[in-house]
Amino acid sequence: MKNHTMDTTPFFVLLFFHLGFLILGFGSVLVTDLFGLLWMRDHIRFKQIVHVSGITGYFVWAGWFGMILTGVPLALLKGHVDALMILKFFFVLLIGLNGILLHLHQRRLQSFASEDEVSDLFMFRLGYSLFVSQVGWWGAILIGFLHRHIWTTITWPPQPWLAVGLILAGLLALRAVGELYFKTKI
Ligand code: HEM
Repeated sequence: MKNHTMDTTPFFVLLFFHLGFLILGFGSVLVTDLFGLLWMRDHIRFKQIVHVSGITGYFVWAGWFGMILTGVPLALLKGHVDALMILKFFFVLLIGLNGILLHLHQRRLQSFASEDEVSDLFMFRLGYSLFVSQVGWWGAILIGFLHRHIWTTITWPPQPWLAVGLILAGLLALRAVGELYFKTKI
């Protein structure tokens, strides 16, 4: 059942901007990933991916901040935070923290010359952060969709903080295994 404030003009206006920022932020993520894919398949030059990701990064941050700016009043109008929303907050935070890592990777890429050999460890770290970014964005999008269109209040998972801990532990374990593997492989 929907709370009545979720069917009012202010809520719809905020949702409009919420989705507008989603297009800006996630759209820019997809453009960057597409260029990365083209680079890996050797269709574009290294310099181009560095240049493009240097610009799209700003759009991603603007979209991410915009989602929070519009999300907070949406949540206030809705009036409560359920278990699945805690998971959504985690995904939003994950996108932000991982975004800092991606920014550092991008800076590192900028310092490489086209003919430099990029290490497997660096490629793993980059690929890992791109994976975490997809997990965060799709997780938050899916939860937003479920809340808006399926059930307004979702009391699953029964222990949201445990779910957050498990997802985090899984992601960190994946990182540790990759680091260990690529550091020992010369
Ligand atoms: C990267 C960050 C975020 C993404 C990708 C995202 C995504 C979405 C999507 C796809 C919807 C459904 C819109 C529709 O179908 O009309 C939605 C709704 C909503 N979002 Fe977000 N969102 C984000 C951040 C936030 C934050 C930080 C908050 C709160 C502080 C928030 C609060 C809401 C609320 C209250 C709704 C209405 C549905 C509901 O939860 O009851 N969002 N979001």
